[in-house]
Amino acid sequence: MTLPPGYALLDGPPTVDDYLRLRQVAGLHPKSPPQAERALGGSWSACHVTGPDGETVAMGRVVGDDGWYFVVADMVTAPDHQRRGVGRAVLDHLLADVRARAPEEPYVTLTADDAGRRLYAQAGFTAFGAGQTGMQLVLTR
Ligand SMILES: CC(C)(COP(=O)(O)OP(=O)(O)OC[C@H]1O[C@@H](n2cnc3c(N)ncnc32)[C@H](O)[C@@H]1OP(=O)(O)O)[C@@H](O)C(=O)NCCC(=O)NCCS
Repeated sequence: MTLPPGYALLDGPPTVDDYLRLRQVAGLHPKSPPQAERALGGSWSACHVTGPDGETVAMGRVVGDDGWYFVVADMVTAPDHQRRGVGRAVLDHLLADVRARAPEEPYVTLTADDAGRRLYAQAGFTAFGAGQTGMQLVLTR
């Protein structure tokens, strides 16, 4: 997925302040600065997207064991920048990086809110579990 003009995808996590702000504006459960610092620092990978004015407008990250188990977390796009393909670009980047750096057939899971379900399905994830909120994807090279 190509980003719209003026947007840039950067490898690595957003700042703690941007992480907390993005969660807040997107309506996700608020986290504290210590939670944010440890979460971002403990990620297997992360990326973020800046908008036309240079502000961080989206992010996503992966928590993983570096072997086979990888969890996509904190997929967020600020409301003013949603539905432009930014979330898909973030997801594509994270999955391509897992595919490139993990050993064979990494098992990628996530917990899908309604907002992201179609996005994840389009990327190949299938629902599992009783409530069908878990989604999984085995990546192959
Ligand atoms: C889930 C979320 C990250 C998606 O981010 P996003 O940047 O809007 O994602 P995209 O733009 O790539 O795709 C979203 C939709 O926009 C559509 N879209 C993409 N580019 C588009 C464009 N140029 N014009 C119109 N629609 C477009 C996609 O087809 C998709 O539509 P669909 O869901 O009906 O299939 C975002 O909605 C969000 O932050 N939600 C709140 C936080 C949240 O709940 N996060 C956890 C989700 S599990």
